[in-house]
Amino acid sequence: MNKTRVAVLISGRGSNMTALINAAKQASYPAEIGLVLSNRPDAVGLSHAQADGITTTTIDHAAYGRDRECFERSMQQVLDEHRIEIICLAGFMRLLTPWFVRRWEERMLNIHPALLPAFKGLDTHQRALSAGVKIHGASVHFVVAEMDSGPIVAQGAVAVREDDDAETLAARVLAVEHLIYPMALGLVAGGRVRVVGGRCVINGGSSPRDALIVPLADDGGRTTEDKQGRTET
Ligand code: GRF
Repeated sequence: MNKTRVAVLISGRGSNMTALINAAKQASYPAEIGLVLSNRPDAVGLSHAQADGITTTTIDHAAYGRDRECFERSMQQVLDEHRIEIICLAGFMRLLTPWFVRRWEERMLNIHPALLPAFKGLDTHQRALSAGVKIHGASVHFVVAEMDSGPIVAQGAVAVREDDDAETLAARVLAVEHLIYPMALGLVAGGRVRVVGGRCVINGGSSPRDALIVPLADDGGRTTEDKQGRTET
C-alpha cells in the first residue's frame, strides 16, 4: 500500500503524537509518520518518537525572533525534504501565518480540546467547567487562518461530572483525543474526507443512534411524589 507521508508537529509531551505513531504501525493504516518536528528542543515527545524509530527534527522558533514566516520557511524546507503530504498539529504551540496555512490548505489537521466552535483558545477545560456545560470533548479539524476554526473532521464527547476539576476533565478528554485523532487522520489520508462548503463530508462514516444525555436521571427527573402519581395533574 502506498502510504501518505505525515509530519506530526509538537511542542511538548506528545501524547497525541504517540497515538498517531501507534496507529500508523498497523499495516492497513493509510498513513505513515515520516517526521516529528518540534519548535522546542526540550519537547518531551521528541524522545518518545525517537524510541519508536521515527525521524525527528527541531526548529527552534526562538532563533527566528519575531519573523514567523522565516521560521515557517525553514519548516517548509524540512517538510519538503521528507516528502510530507499531510501535517498533524499535536500540541504545537505556535500561531501559523496565512502563508503557511494556505500552502497546507486541507492538508493540515489540528486537535483542539473542546467541542468546537465552543471554547476556542486556551484553558478549555476550566472554561467549560465555569460555563457549566454538561458535555465537553475534543475536535479534529482542518487548519484555516483563523485559530481553532476550519472544517471539523471528527469530534468526541465526554460527560462533565459534578466533581470534575480541570485536571480530571482534561484526562478524560485526552483519552478521547487519542481515539479521534488517529481515526480522523486515517480518514483524511485514506481519501475519505471531502470539504464541501466549509464542512467535511465523510465517505463511509456512520453516526451512532444513541444520544449522549447528561445527567442520566434514572427516574426521568421526576420528584418522588410524581413517581407515586400524587402530584400529577
Ligand atoms: C492536547 O490537549 C491537544 O488537544 C492540544 O494540546 C494538547 C497536547 O497534548 N492541542 P499532547 O502533547 O498531545 O499530549
